[in-house]
Amino acid sequence: MELPFSESYKIKVVEPLRRSTRDEREKWIREAHYNLFNLQSYQVFIDLLTDSGTGAMSDRQWSAMMVGDESYAGASSYYKLKETVGEITGFDYFLPTHQGRAAENVLFSALVSEGDIVPGNTHFDTTKGHIEYRRARAVDCTIDEAFDTESEHPFKGNIDTGKLEKVLKENPRDKIPFVVVTVTCNSSGGQPVSMNNLKEVKALAEKYGVMIVFDAARFAENAYFIKLKEKGYENKSIREIVREMFSHADAMTMSCKKDGVVNMGGFIGMRDEELFHKAGVYNILFEGFLTYGGMTGRDMNALAQGLVEVTGFDYLQTRIEQVACLGKKLREYNIPVQVPFGGHAIFVDAKKLLPHIPKERFIAQTLAVELYLEAGVRGVEIGTLLADRDPETRENRYPRLELVRLAIPRRVYTNNHMDVVAAAVKNVYDRREKIGDGLEIVKEAPIMRHFTVKLKRAER
Ligand code: F0G
Repeated sequence: MELPFSESYKIKVVEPLRRSTRDEREKWIREAHYNLFNLQSYQVFIDLLTDSGTGAMSDRQWSAMMVGDESYAGASSYYKLKETVGEITGFDYFLPTHQGRAAENVLFSALVSEGDIVPGNTHFDTTKGHIEYRRARAVDCTIDEAFDTESEHPFKGNIDTGKLEKVLKENPRDKIPFVVVTVTCNSSGGQPVSMNNLKEVKALAEKYGVMIVFDAARFAENAYFIKLKEKGYENKSIREIVREMFSHADAMTMSCKKDGVVNMGGFIGMRDEELFHKAGVYNILFEGFLTYGGMTGRDMNALAQGLVEVTGFDYLQTRIEQVACLGKKLREYNIPVQVPFGGHAIFVDAKKLLPHIPKERFIAQTLAVELYLEAGVRGVEIGTLLADRDPETRENRYPRLELVRLAIPRRVYTNNHMDVVAAAVKNVYDRREKIGDGLEIVKEAPIMRHFTVKLKRAER
């Protein structure tokens, strides 16, 4: 008999979870103004808000923390991390930052100016935020298949080279500081970018003399998909694939809260010494001295170990199989979810699940609230709230997709928890026609409104 698939680790420390009642959740979500970011963690049973900074560290990471070097300058923890980053990514120049958006802030301060255009594959919201904050523009060049949740295209994070070349051709060279490639592409569903696409994008960027920057928050998950799905890579190790991926980039930013499996951390990798010195000034200004940049020695040690673990095949197989386990269950229940399943999350297609709710009434947020009420499961809206308003017209930018992301923290929940989540989504699906009229905004911030928005139930 073939042995069933199981996790590549065992559990040493546990954290209790509290079950709540529907009445409690009704009260809490009302008090939270129907914004799931406002809930306190004890009010949540299974937390799939994000896979960022929510992972469980290994015994080796915890023990590495005990020997962190907290020297202000020249800490051995910094050199250890720099060496590991160099080995895994191939970047010689390295700046630690406290998280991903801090890396964006530092690097973009050195590279992006007012009026610039930054093409890429569906920029993550902080990436876009840091571009727009500098009065520059992010242009989405993702392939069209990414916006069809039913398309089985194996690499829905790919950049459409036709769209990219159009942007490169139609704009002056000095207005395009770089092309950003997000691996995997979070906003289009945790979808991978193929090696072939990375090569094509690199060739185009070289032709037009433009740099490539990877947003590498989930680089190892991307490498796993390349190994599984792309011809010619089945016998390569994850480490080999990762090195080849990064060989197509000139610089990278990374939120290590994802594929660093740490609770806080980030960095910038660069090849160019001049850029390193320029960005280094901003690092000192915004983050901290060059050899810690917003991280403690303990954090840098845990991250160096995390980067080694995350590039192991067994770790990645356990991780991606768990995400697929939730996806398969949901499909068995006929729930419209994005296929192929992404690396860090399952995305439920809210427009298909709640077709009767008008787009002005925040379809995906309505579904996320219902799922919380059903079982205390917290997902996150990837829809109109997140897309926010056009910076000029201030009108809502209605995205093509209204999704609820169920992001799975690394090494935290069991597959039984995934079964609970799937059953909760099914229960919401079964009563979908009785789900009211959606939500209305009461108060919203000028940018990045989804974090703090206050909502109320819409009236008929
Ligand atoms: N880039 C990508 C692709 C991300 O997914 C994130 C964060 C960032 C950059 C910013 O990194 O949070 O460390 O400052 N994504 C989280 C999420 C918040 O829930 O997907 P950060």
